[in-house]
Amino acid sequence: MKGIVLCAGAGTRLRPLTHTGAKHLIPVANKAILFYAIEALADAGVTDLGIVVGATGWQISDAVGDGARFGCRVTYIPQERPLGLGHAVRVARDFVGDSRFVVYLGDNFIHGGIGRFVSDFANARSAGQILLSPEADPSRYGVAQVDGDRIVRLVEKPKDPPSNLCIVGVYAFGPEIFDSIERTPPSARGELEITDAIQGLIDAGLEVRKYEIESWWKDTGKPEDVLDLNRRLLEELEPGVHGDINAESVIEGRVYVEKGATVRRSHLRGPVIIAEGCEVEGSYIGPYTSIGPKTRIVNSDIEYSILLSECVVEDATERIDSSLLGNQVVLSRRNRLPARYKFVLADQSQAELP
Ligand code: G1P
Repeated sequence: MKGIVLCAGAGTRLRPLTHTGAKHLIPVANKAILFYAIEALADAGVTDLGIVVGATGWQISDAVGDGARFGCRVTYIPQERPLGLGHAVRVARDFVGDSRFVVYLGDNFIHGGIGRFVSDFANARSAGQILLSPEADPSRYGVAQVDGDRIVRLVEKPKDPPSNLCIVGVYAFGPEIFDSIERTPPSARGELEITDAIQGLIDAGLEVRKYEIESWWKDTGKPEDVLDLNRRLLEELEPGVHGDINAESVIEGRVYVEKGATVRRSHLRGPVIIAEGCEVEGSYIGPYTSIGPKTRIVNSDIEYSILLSECVVEDATERIDSSLLGNQVVLSRRNRLPARYKFVLADQSQAELP
């Protein structure tokens, strides 16, 4: 079975991070969100992957390469314009050929992977199989109405949801989906919705089955989702201290410090992960924090946050909390009067002042 990973979305709700980088490459517990998706596919035996990319395609191909290190073979498929998930699947038609295939949204995380989802579909004859999860607020998602194991109706982001079963970003299809996509008109938001194309399969009398998720999942569309996924993944972190920690430092709970990181006179209260090349001095790094490579943190207090690579945080004596910093962000203090804020913030940056 082949796999298609959809990575063309612009990630507007994650600006300004996505002004310069692909949302799929934002690290969670210091690993790109997309890498978890590729690993889940590879673990399920789906190793022939087509990654559908948009404007950030070069970053994704730089990061993933030919896929060999994941045990996969990766083909990059350009989607010239973001015309919807149905359109993204359509551009992969030549790659898929006549095979049955899995579609995985590259910004979704599925806890526990997709092994059984894939093997169930491989052993079935249905034209489609959709991963579903019961949610408290279904109107944010595509929603399914089911009859036993069969899906009878799907609606995208309904005001009046027919059930609480939401579409998680993993689908499996036979080649019949491509004809259905051709017959599907654009939606009210001007996109070719995969949800409508699946409804087309059902309307044509083909069987589309539900598969209810066994554990939890996360769509990382917004900053708070990324931070929440980071929290959940850090809760499962295997602790390990491979960096250089001096005797005046305190380490509590699940803490992972990579080789080549130095920690001086600091308190690390897990779950926390600190990447290689970091320098932490006179600081407190609190629960649910991931610090990317080559970051320097001095006399500061950080909790429930993600810092990408090569940041500098100095003398941030008020706690930095629930924050997402990009690459090479500098936060420093100037101890001269008049006291003032001074910012160089990119478009759509958000800073909350006490
Ligand atoms: C897409 C799908 C939606 C699904 C969701 C899962 O929505 O259209 O049916 O529930 O992914 O993440 P989007 O997040 O692109 O708005």
